[in-house]
Amino acid sequence: MAAGKRKVVGFALGDGGRVFTLPPVNSAPLGFFDSGVGGLTVVRAVQELLPAENILYLGDTARLPYGSKSPETIRQFADEDVRFLIARGVKAIVVACNTATAHALPSLHEKYRIPILGVIEPGVEAALACPNAVRIGIIATRGTIRSHAYQHALALRKTGLMIHGQATPLLVPLIEENWIDHPATRQVLKTYLDPLVEKGIDTLMLACTHYPLLIPVLQQLLPAEIRLVDSATTCAEHLKKELTRLDLLEPTDRDGALELHLTDLSEEFESLARQFLKKSPGRIHRAVLGI
Ligand code: DGL
Repeated sequence: MAAGKRKVVGFALGDGGRVFTLPPVNSAPLGFFDSGVGGLTVVRAVQELLPAENILYLGDTARLPYGSKSPETIRQFADEDVRFLIARGVKAIVVACNTATAHALPSLHEKYRIPILGVIEPGVEAALACPNAVRIGIIATRGTIRSHAYQHALALRKTGLMIHGQATPLLVPLIEENWIDHPATRQVLKTYLDPLVEKGIDTLMLACTHYPLLIPVLQQLLPAEIRLVDSATTCAEHLKKELTRLDLLEPTDRDGALELHLTDLSEEFESLARQFLKKSPGRIHRAVLGI
C-alpha cells in the first residue's frame, strides 16, 4: 500500500440502519446478489479468477423475477439485498443482476460507502473489446431494456453503433424451470432472435446473468459469425482490479468458501445452482430479509 494511502476498512449497518466502519477486512467475504441463482454465473467467473476469495451469495428467489417489476420496486429490493449482505460483514458487493444494476446501482452508490460493482459496464467493455462490433443486439429483461442503461453505456463509449434492444421476459422463467435444452425454449428464442438476426447484428449481448446457461442452445440457433458476449468474465476482471486498487484482496492462497443464501428454497433452485456453478452448491441457507 502506498505511503499515506488510507486503508479501506469494513462496513456494517448499525442501529437505525446507519453505516459505520469496522477494522480492515481483507478476509471478509465478497457479497453478491441477484434475484435468483443466475448471478452464480458471475460467482463462477470470480471463483476461477480469485479462488481464495470467500463469497456470500444472496438470491432473492422468493421475489424473482425482478425484470418485470417497476424501477422503484427493484430499487427497494436491491436496497434490502445490500443491507442483508452488509449486515453479514462483506467487504465489497457485486450486483450480479443486470436488472438491479440498471435501476439501482446509482442509488446504491449514493447511499452506501462500501464498494459496489455492477455488471453493465463490464458487459459493455466486453462487447466493445472487439473493434468490429458495430451492430449490437441486446437481450435482457423488460426492466433492463426499458432502463436504456446498456444503450446509453454503449453509445457513450463508441459512436456510430446500431443498437437493438430486445426484451426477452420469457427466458428467465424457462431457465428457472430448467427448460434449457427444450423445444419450447428454442421456439421462444427463435421468435425473439429472428428480428435481431434480420437486422444483421454482429454481436449479441446476453444482458441478464441467467442467459449464459443458454449459450450452447444459442450457438446452435444463431449464425456462427454473431459474437456472444456476457459480462461474467469481465465483471470478475473488474472486481479483481477494484480489490487490488483498494488493497482488499484476500491475502491467503487456500480456496475460499462459498455460502449461499436464498429467500425461497426448493429442490429446483438447488439443482439450478449446481448447473450455474458446475459443482455442488453445498448447504443452502434460507435468507430472511428486512430484519
Ligand atoms: N438475473 C436477472 C438479470 O440479470 C434477471 C432475472 C429477473 O428478472 O429477476 O437481469
